[in-house]
Amino acid sequence: MSGIYVHIPFCKSKCRYCDFTSFPDKIGFAESYMTCVYHEMAMRGEELKDYVFDTLYIGGGTPSVVDENYIAMLVAAAKKYFTLKDGAEITIEMNPGTVSAGKIALYKKCGINRFSVGLQSAVDAQLAEVGRCHSLNEFLACAKLLKGENFSVDVMIGLKGQTLADIGKTIEVVANSGASHISMYALTPEDGTPIYTDYLNG
Ligand SMILES: C[S@@+](CC[C@H](N)C(=O)[O-])C[C@H]1O[C@@H](n2cnc3c(N)ncnc32)[C@H](O)[C@@H]1O
Ligand code: SF4
Repeated sequence: MSGIYVHIPFCKSKCRYCDFTSFPDKIGFAESYMTCVYHEMAMRGEELKDYVFDTLYIGGGTPSVVDENYIAMLVAAAKKYFTLKDGAEITIEMNPGTVSAGKIALYKKCGINRFSVGLQSAVDAQLAEVGRCHSLNEFLACAKLLKGENFSVDVMIGLKGQTLADIGKTIEVVANSGASHISMYALTPEDGTPIYTDYLNG
């Protein structure tokens, strides 16, 4: 099985636990970064011409924070320079604080057929505690826009003050949201993040 991964290194803001490569203060570079991505795809088309790709995964960072036209051009470039299998799975990662009906409509139109949404917790106080840029209601609005689509939701365990009841509520909210999959991550205190400092402080 072969897949293409494209990284979009921008976010609206930085979550306190996250050490993924993403720059919330550099969204102004999105246009030049995306131009480099299209050039790299063009360059690699020849090198990878013998592959038939099953998947295209647009991850981050937060791909949904950049202008949706950049994403549509990325998918078009992947189709132009690489061989994608018929019905290939094309996924985009989204943060509920960065979506709109217009964005999701264009994602669907350009061929994206799988959506990965970060929720982490259904408890607003915990979202605020880890620095998420959205509320539970914004996740529910996003899930409504994705109704009928193949979407999965990321949730986290091990958050400060999180109880078993909070985890139960989170799973229930996601299960009732129309999601087809839940990815559950145990909080890892990554060296250099604000949460790592909290961890060292007990
Ligand atoms: C690139 S993000 C998903 C999309 C989007 N950026 C968002 O956060 O909504 C990937 C996922 O990794 C998980 N994650 C990131 N840092 C983590 C950490 N330190 N410990 C455990 N899970 C983490 C979160 O569940 C997050 O949703
Ligand atoms: S929005 Fe996602 S990628 Fe960005 S800082 Fe938060 S967890 Fe990391």
